[in-house]
Amino acid sequence: MASYEDVMSLSVRRGFLWPAVDLYGGFAGFYDYGHNGVLLRRRWEDRWIETFLGLSDNYYLIDTTTILPEAALKASGHVDHFTDILVTCTRCGESYRGDQLLEAATHEEQEGLTTEEIDARIQELKIRCPNCKGVLGPSREFHMMFPLEVGPTGKDRAYLRPETAQGVFLNFKREFEALRRRLPMGLAIVGRAYRNEISPRQGAYRMREFIQAELQIFFDPATFGDAVPFQDIASVPVRVAWASEKHAPTAHDAPAKDLVGHGLPPWYVYHLVQVQRFYLDLLRIPRDAFRFAELDEKERAFYNKIHFDIQVRQESLGGFKEVGGVHYRTDHDLRGHEAGSHAKQSVTFGTSKLVPHVLELSFGVDRNVWALLDLSYAKGERVVLRLPVQVAPVPVAVFPLVNKDGLPERAEALYAGLRKRIAAFYDDSGSIGRRYARMDEIGTPFSVTVDHETLEGKGVTLRERDSQKQIRVKEGDLATTLNQLLSGEATFPA
Ligand code: GAP
Repeated sequence: MASYEDVMSLSVRRGFLWPAVDLYGGFAGFYDYGHNGVLLRRRWEDRWIETFLGLSDNYYLIDTTTILPEAALKASGHVDHFTDILVTCTRCGESYRGDQLLEAATHEEQEGLTTEEIDARIQELKIRCPNCKGVLGPSREFHMMFPLEVGPTGKDRAYLRPETAQGVFLNFKREFEALRRRLPMGLAIVGRAYRNEISPRQGAYRMREFIQAELQIFFDPATFGDAVPFQDIASVPVRVAWASEKHAPTAHDAPAKDLVGHGLPPWYVYHLVQVQRFYLDLLRIPRDAFRFAELDEKERAFYNKIHFDIQVRQESLGGFKEVGGVHYRTDHDLRGHEAGSHAKQSVTFGTSKLVPHVLELSFGVDRNVWALLDLSYAKGERVVLRLPVQVAPVPVAVFPLVNKDGLPERAEALYAGLRKRIAAFYDDSGSIGRRYARMDEIGTPFSVTVDHETLEGKGVTLRERDSQKQIRVKEGDLATTLNQLLSGEATFPA
């Protein structure tokens, strides 16, 4: 189990991520990634792209601007509705998010409350300023987008995009026409989003600049059910916490078909199963540390008709925390842009002409990186990051046992050959024990050591991170053995 300090200290020590601009005392809500952090993040993104764009041959990756004009964000509803509730201390002036003040006092999630409800709860629970114990002022809506003035006159008002999704909606019609003109069609973006969070905190959990990976699936509600092979997953147990029980610390396993019985469309449940597979099978998140949590009408985002958060239990953040969401956005966004731009968003598909509906699979990349660091952190005599092989920043390390007797030259030659096929890393600094420990801390699953027996033609030592077991492998077989272990085709001999 990892505390917040454990994860942050490992993260800084081993080049994952840390608060930005710390030379100038920090910059709340902004984080920089180091070399291992970028590798881990990119591997997560690659696995995400393979998994979710792999769901259909009509799903594609696009890239769009991070600054959007006010007109587009007015049409999407963000200018009018993208707010959080701000409470300010009347004595020290410290600012808080209303729901977070209540959560700290009650240890329960508090989403979807109005300003009046928050004020009433603050009175009832006698909450004072956590900083100075002063009296808290009345709550108010606080707008979360970062405004910008574009051009020399500053007359063109714009915002940093609060979600990547809007770039997809603005390009839907163009892509539909440029591609196969068929539904369902998916468009994904992996990119930055910006929110002026009132109270950024908990490391990568609540940032002001962060990365989202979002797939918008455009579909015809009359036929989407037939387009997904629901029967293939009907019996798969799905981990859910319904809105009425999401404060409970656990979740149920309910067969997918029971969720349909509960009123969810089969196409929605089918995608819950795909998301769950990504977390449980590919990222190897323990089953009891994963769940979908339903949001009720008051809690869900203004554009959603069905909304389940994807949650992962993280000791460093105090329990189950949202890392993504599965959102049925209906035709809210395309209709909004049609009204705002006066450009028709309907398309003709088969015999129907329609404004497609949208299912959104939305993920916070930084939150997922943090969750992996938290769940992989294992501390015994030393720290080992038990990252799944598919996302480990450095899959293989190569060492000479000692820095003499021709071992470095032999190890470097082996490394030069290996790195043509595998993202290997060479290290000859410090004792072999320290080198293993460094690799364990960044989650490298396999290390190869060239020793004196190698010079006698007796192969190299291959060590596995989690068991610390070692086997000897012939040099000629090494690349194939490693590729099989990394792809999951083979397991390390017990
Ligand atoms: N397009 C839908 C959308 O943006 P959201 O629930 O507001 O929905 C999606 O955000 C995901 O983005 C969240 O589940 C979370 O993982 C991530 N996210 C949102 N705000 C964040 C923040 N301030 N810092 C880090 N990640 C954030």
